[in-house]
Amino acid sequence: MLPDCHLPETWRAKMVERIPSSTKDQRQEWICKADYNLFKLRSNEVRFDLGTDGGSGGMSDNQWSALMRGDSAATRSPSSYRLQEKVKELFGFTYTIPVHRGRAAKHALVQALLNEESIVPGNAFFDTTRANIESQKAIAIDCAIEGAFDIYYQHPFKGNVNLPELEKILQGSGSNVPMIMVSITCDKTGGQPVSMHNLREVKRLAKMFNVPVILDSARFAENAWFIQKNESEYSSQSIPDIVQEMYHHADGMVMSGKTDGLVNAGGFFATNNKDLFDRVGKYANLFCGLAGRDMEALTVGLGEVTQQEYLDDRIRQIHRFGMRLMAANVPIQQPIGGHAIVIDASLFLPLVPREEYVAKTLAVELYVEAGIRGAGMETVIGGGNPITGINRNRSNAKDFLYLAIPRQAYTNDQLSFVANALIQIFERRFTITRGLYVVHEDAILRYLTIQLKKADGKSIA
Ligand SMILES: Cc1ncc(COP(=O)(O)O)c(C=O)c1O
Repeated sequence: MLPDCHLPETWRAKMVERIPSSTKDQRQEWICKADYNLFKLRSNEVRFDLGTDGGSGGMSDNQWSALMRGDSAATRSPSSYRLQEKVKELFGFTYTIPVHRGRAAKHALVQALLNEESIVPGNAFFDTTRANIESQKAIAIDCAIEGAFDIYYQHPFKGNVNLPELEKILQGSGSNVPMIMVSITCDKTGGQPVSMHNLREVKRLAKMFNVPVILDSARFAENAWFIQKNESEYSSQSIPDIVQEMYHHADGMVMSGKTDGLVNAGGFFATNNKDLFDRVGKYANLFCGLAGRDMEALTVGLGEVTQQEYLDDRIRQIHRFGMRLMAANVPIQQPIGGHAIVIDASLFLPLVPREEYVAKTLAVELYVEAGIRGAGMETVIGGGNPITGINRNRSNAKDFLYLAIPRQAYTNDQLSFVANALIQIFERRFTITRGLYVVHEDAILRYLTIQLKKADGKSIA
């Protein structure tokens, strides 16, 4: 069921930040200096930053007030107990380890659980999750459902785990599987939700093989919203009740508070398993920590993000933006997901050879056209381990341009501007025939440091 796209935002600005303007000539120069990698641009060279929705949202007046209550004690501060109580109330987990960002929780978790023999299945791994798993020389296997990366395939829960594939892995290598990790919502497939039914079945299979299920929870509240709208037995349940049940099917969670914690910094690991808590804590103590004030803002954010009015407003904004693009036939992932619009760049720019990084090419076009930062990624489907070399070839990859929408930051008018810029490029898509080639790339999290050059003038590979 689609939200009513005609309603306005349900928040008003209390503080403003001026958006830097620039000319096309300046942007051409800046992107060339940044090696055609949008992640290497300075943020003041960007007008609308849709490179990530993590940590770039606006906080509420209540969160800013809570910051002032933050305690600066090094350990066991009242702020940490308040966060712990909120996590218990919302997710049902007793043990919480606060961290400065989601990937820190993942890093401590993989150090505690994985070794070189380990195989970790999940729906589709977010980049930092995959990189953390692979940093232990373990293998991350995407078990997305058939059609999850086909933008025109219609399924209300395109983030679901492919249960037969998961079962096959557990049967074949169960003893090497130290955990199953499910990303809710599934960022890689475009903020696509996982159904309660699927979470229940994943837990049932995991129990048969005695493997813990960890939810990568960056967008848990948006996921709950989709369960409420699209799984009929949950239509009259409140978001907090749905969240409780989602986590009833899990043994632990890693959380980036920068997304559905509505904060600029922070995250946590949580579980009811004391042994797991102790093992993860041992590593987390080496490099993690969160200031009391950030814990306070996160505690309030976790409450606000589960409010119906907030979520209706949030999803409505993404839908309004996506519907605008769909009306112009821009090829976007459907159904529209929870936090981002994902464009199939090879359908958008059909004349650019696939070897020439079509998604990054489109990202550069959009930046030069209007100063918008998106994230052009090649989504490797079904694995991709830079150490073992498995699935490094791009033949089964999808070229997706992600436009992630920060929470409570941009207005519908600003997103209309973004949509117009994209539509303009779409209308002249047949004039864009060449892309980019790689000059340098790192094995892990390569999108952050990759160096590219324009391929025009170079003969086609
Ligand atoms: C599933 C998932 N996990 C984690 C993160 C990032 O978390 P952090 O930046 O806090 O490490 C994101 C960010 O967008 C995400 O989508």
